[in-house]
Amino acid sequence: MTAHNPAAKKLFIKTYGCQMNVYDSQRMAEAMGAEGYVLTEDQADADMVLLNTCHIREKAAEKLYSDLGRLKPLKAARPDLKIGVAGCVAQAEGAEIIRRMPLVDLVVGPQTYHRLPAMVRGEAPAIDTDFPEEDKFDHLPAPRATRRAPAAFLTVQEGCDKFCAFCVVPYTRGAEVSRPAERILAEARDLAERGVREITLLGQNVNGWHGGPGGFGALIRSLGEIAGLERIRYTTSHPNDMADDLIEAHRDVPQLMPYLHLPVQSGSDRVLKAMNRKHTSDQYLRLIDRIRAARPDIVLTSDFIVGFPGETDEDHTDTLRLIERVGYGMAYSFKYSPRPGTPAFDRPEVDAAVADARLQELQALLTRQQHAVQEGMIGRTVTVLFEKAGREAGQMIGKSDYLHSVFVDTDQVQVGDLRAVRIIGSQRNSLHGELIAG
Ligand code: SAH
Ligand code: SF4
Ligand code: F3S
Repeated sequence: MTAHNPAAKKLFIKTYGCQMNVYDSQRMAEAMGAEGYVLTEDQADADMVLLNTCHIREKAAEKLYSDLGRLKPLKAARPDLKIGVAGCVAQAEGAEIIRRMPLVDLVVGPQTYHRLPAMVRGEAPAIDTDFPEEDKFDHLPAPRATRRAPAAFLTVQEGCDKFCAFCVVPYTRGAEVSRPAERILAEARDLAERGVREITLLGQNVNGWHGGPGGFGALIRSLGEIAGLERIRYTTSHPNDMADDLIEAHRDVPQLMPYLHLPVQSGSDRVLKAMNRKHTSDQYLRLIDRIRAARPDIVLTSDFIVGFPGETDEDHTDTLRLIERVGYGMAYSFKYSPRPGTPAFDRPEVDAAVADARLQELQALLTRQQHAVQEGMIGRTVTVLFEKAGREAGQMIGKSDYLHSVFVDTDQVQVGDLRAVRIIGSQRNSLHGELIAG
């Protein structure tokens, strides 16, 4: 073990953005682990700082530059400190990052981070934003057979061919690529053997996965056969890829959790068209009806963008109506942020104050719905996969089937236990429960 070797080099990773970046950071940590680097939580103590970035909105991208600015004194004090930028800003801006911030040593995009060790050794170019032919997953070291936390991510699909008019992902992550079914199943079996009981399958368009016969629904059925794997989730899905077989999997596969993140972005057909989402609000609502027919207790969540160019008060009202019709368990909502290189970038913007007011109104409605769904859980029995101890002694925290965080006052359970819990209270973003005897 290198974990306590004082001579080992230390790597600090900061992850921004989506869950796929979380997964990628873990893979980069493993790749650098094979080079003798161990992770540190303390940036000031690191030999290498790696920022795994997000480009989705302007604020997310600007965060990188303010964080790099704050690294200047550390680099000045220790010139041998290596600073790397990975992820979607790296892909979008490449060499520009080093021009703007010369303290950066390496820039590596999301498709080439298997080359990171060679870059750090100085055996590969310091800027790499290729979309290579080879699959990075084939070139990453096999993870060491250590025990893992009870819930893990598994990337099954990357990139996007949908080209929503506001979105950078097709440019930063490239075309849709599915990992082959056998690789995914092997990784899932390995995770299950190392103590993982819940897997969240990741992809920018995860339900568009086509890496094996039968598509995504069939993949979920195969994962349902793996011993020890008790829970399956997936994110993020596109409404146009919700195939019948996947909807039926929500009815048939007991491990597939009753939770679905299905972003709609807007409830106005005019705006949906301008966004290039390729479905109407009515088609989305009918899809929701079919999903609920298959799994009546499913909790639905979504993403919304307000203030998309051309959005009128009437369009905004249509979005509020759609939200009222669906009844979401939770949703993320964002003010539109124009992104360079995307089709909507040059379109005239909605007045900022108007967009702010719409965002507040939408968030208030979504918060009311979230609390209604949480309060509806009170008195119900759910299963909870315990993931960590709470801050207060004698408290454990886990996730319910419906992905609610649940606090339980108990000294009877361990991390990794899956237990029946009765919900007895609802707080702002979590539930309170008690163990059911037996
Ligand atoms: N693949 C996912 C979304 C990935 S981005 C999907 O298709 O749903 C996550 C969310 O960020 C999007 O759903 C959208 O709501 C938001 N988003 C993306 N680009 C944005 C932009 N330019 N401005 C504001 N929000 C944006
Ligand atoms: Fe972006 Fe649209 Fe692709 Fe989602 S489906 S990643 S929002 S382009
Ligand atoms: Fe951000 Fe890239 Fe994910 S832009 S949301 S980190 S795919």
